[in-house]
Amino acid sequence: MSTWNDLAKHQRATDTRHMLELFTQDPDRANGFSIRAGEMLLDYSKTNIDADCRDLLVGLAEAQGVAAKRDAMFAGEVINETEGRAVLHIAQRADDAAVIEVDDTDVMPALRETRARAYAFSEAVRSGAYQGQGGRITDVVNIGIGGSDLGPAMATLALEPFHDGPRLHYVSNVDGAHIGDTLERLDPATTLVVVASKTFTTIETMTNAETARAWMAQKVTDPTAQFAAVSTAADKTAAFGIAPERVFGFADWVGGRYSMWGPIGLGVMIAIGAVRFERFLAGARAMDAHFVEAPFAENMPVMLALVGIWHNQLCGHATRAVLPYDQRLSRLPAYLQQLEMESNGKRVGMDGEDLGRQSGPVVWGEPGTNGQHAFYQLIHQGTRVVPCEFLLAAQGHEPDLAHQHRLLAANCLAQAEALMKGRSLEEARAIMAAKGLDGAELDRQARHRVFPGNRPSTMLLYPKLTPFTLGQIVALYEHRVFVEGVILGINSFDQWGVELGKELATALGPVMDGADASGKDGSTQALVAYLRGQGV
Ligand code: F6P
Repeated sequence: MSTWNDLAKHQRATDTRHMLELFTQDPDRANGFSIRAGEMLLDYSKTNIDADCRDLLVGLAEAQGVAAKRDAMFAGEVINETEGRAVLHIAQRADDAAVIEVDDTDVMPALRETRARAYAFSEAVRSGAYQGQGGRITDVVNIGIGGSDLGPAMATLALEPFHDGPRLHYVSNVDGAHIGDTLERLDPATTLVVVASKTFTTIETMTNAETARAWMAQKVTDPTAQFAAVSTAADKTAAFGIAPERVFGFADWVGGRYSMWGPIGLGVMIAIGAVRFERFLAGARAMDAHFVEAPFAENMPVMLALVGIWHNQLCGHATRAVLPYDQRLSRLPAYLQQLEMESNGKRVGMDGEDLGRQSGPVVWGEPGTNGQHAFYQLIHQGTRVVPCEFLLAAQGHEPDLAHQHRLLAANCLAQAEALMKGRSLEEARAIMAAKGLDGAELDRQARHRVFPGNRPSTMLLYPKLTPFTLGQIVALYEHRVFVEGVILGINSFDQWGVELGKELATALGPVMDGADASGKDGSTQALVAYLRGQGV
């Protein structure tokens, strides 16, 4: 067992050490500071974490009760205390024999029944057994936002090589541009609309759903016959006019941002089919088993969380860049922004007291190599240290373009190497001298070409981006967020921080329609006046 103080002391003592020293001291460091989960490899050797530090971090995880909380989650206990709910997204991917009880009732039979219905419906859409008024469904529009959009949209893009169903489109923003641009290209008579909303009250989703229904009605006599819904609120889906056989429910113990494994993944099921969706679940299940069974120091989600805690709460690096060298994971950073920041962006702990340390980090990123030509300048030479998390497949899906994949891989490894090694002033001076510079100009120019190095990164490698691998990756991040939350004493499963903005938007709605704004603050009044002046 260890404490935050033990770690803070260790951090101060090792702060200025260059991580290259660690490789000199321990030539086998790459092995000792990497973890395998199935065929996946997480390398965290390019950090300043040494064996003592790892022991302290693992000791902190033990002291904060990570194992007990993990077991409580898997057992269906009410660990989401501020909402009085169990946290059972893992049930949505549990194997067929699993028995998971909430309030002494096995939740698995109902969950399996819904999953079977969702598979049957998705297969009917794919095969043409279910048709639109104009015949076979060619396009599916998923209307949802946050957890009802980001996960399935990210996964649909990630699994593009496995698509053999209708085209998938995701609409989330209440900005009419989003749905307008999407529907403009589609034929209502061959389009299926899936309204995905846990609550079926989210203003963006309900507004877009009404727009889609009106669009459908222009050409289709029974518009909601081409609607399906995924929601916990069967009364509301019925009120919208969607027949119960096309409504797929889930329980409130599945959080929105953790819900892509069940019917919220309907779009993914339709795109890739039930058999491949099962592989996606199997990948997550494999990561669940690893998370439950592996000792902490060899446990990928636990160690990824501890690396995050080390960089953010102990070293003070406020952000974390997620850099997939995998174009099809281009929505992974956006997905992780919700998963991580909506889960752990909280200043009050489970005990109702101030956290006393930083909450989870700001998560951001873009795929490589694109980011290299945009923000990597700051990552390499800016004044702030940005811990980077690289992701890379050993193989792409384009056998004819294997040379491009090798180039991609070279870039990914090179960036991590450059961040660690940097370039010294002497090396920069030698480069400039070779170009013929000397004297004061050489000094001045050389300084611009110095890379401080010693900048941390992790590398997640996997054989190929398949449904199974994607399941592993997403479950890895889910459990990482969980472990970080437990260590920080945060409830990772509520999201009260989104409420105030929603309330004020509801109040401002009538103002945008012309109601009196005089009760508003001076700034808001002035902004309203501008918009009115421009004809909002
Ligand atoms: O506004 C935040 C949030 O509640 C998210 O947690 C959730 O994923 C999203 O809105 C959408 O909610 P729903 O699925 O109920 O429409």
